[in-house]
Amino acid sequence: MKKELVPSLLSANFYNLEKDLDILKNSAIKTIHLDVMDGMFVPNLSIGIPVIESINKFVGNQFVFDTHLMIEKPERYIEAFKKAGSDILTVHVEATSDLPSVISEVKNAGMKAGVSLNPETDIKVFDDILNIVDLVLVMSVHPGFGGQKFMPVAIDKVKHLYEMREMNNYNYIIEIDGGIDKSNLKTALDAGVDYVVAGSSVFRGDINNNIIDLNGIIGVYNE
Ligand code: DX5
Ligand code: ZN
Repeated sequence: MKKELVPSLLSANFYNLEKDLDILKNSAIKTIHLDVMDGMFVPNLSIGIPVIESINKFVGNQFVFDTHLMIEKPERYIEAFKKAGSDILTVHVEATSDLPSVISEVKNAGMKAGVSLNPETDIKVFDDILNIVDLVLVMSVHPGFGGQKFMPVAIDKVKHLYEMREMNNYNYIIEIDGGIDKSNLKTALDAGVDYVVAGSSVFRGDINNNIIDLNGIIGVYNE
């Protein structure tokens, strides 16, 4: 599986998103990560359907939209996120009481189905559904805010997902999200991560240089 840097727009400049997206358009980036928060599942609010719709209208065919729902009862909004332009829709196991149904609804709506878990949740919670998911997102910080410190507990989870995929011939994408920068990127990739979400390490400072730096490390794994 090809490894990819996936910028999280949460750390972009919301006053001038076009400027930041133009930089991504002229880079090697193919997938963008959109963080949706409801102030209930996580103690923060972020962007939602109208913003994703607008981004889709202007740059929708340039990027795969990887939407990370940090909201309670995500089943309420599956169709809405599809309409807004999401290609991958990831929901948290802690946010819904019937994860298998949500996964089928996401797939039936025509999107890839992702599942995610908080740092305190055991990765084995997914063992029985790994055959039906398209992506597993391992949180390496407490969801809710950009710019937090990477939690190494994520690495063993990634290794478990990688082993399960090898052993059973599954084909989900393994994604990591939170606190990723140049100092821990290799550790994540060595453990088996395919999609590397990065917010502050992409958007803080010179975006283009940051992408080139991080992609320099990731690119070696795709050779
Ligand atoms: C946090 C979000 C992340 C966040 C990552 O809840 O899910 O996608 O934007 O930001 P950094 O890379 O700064 O930790
Ligand atoms: Zn995220």
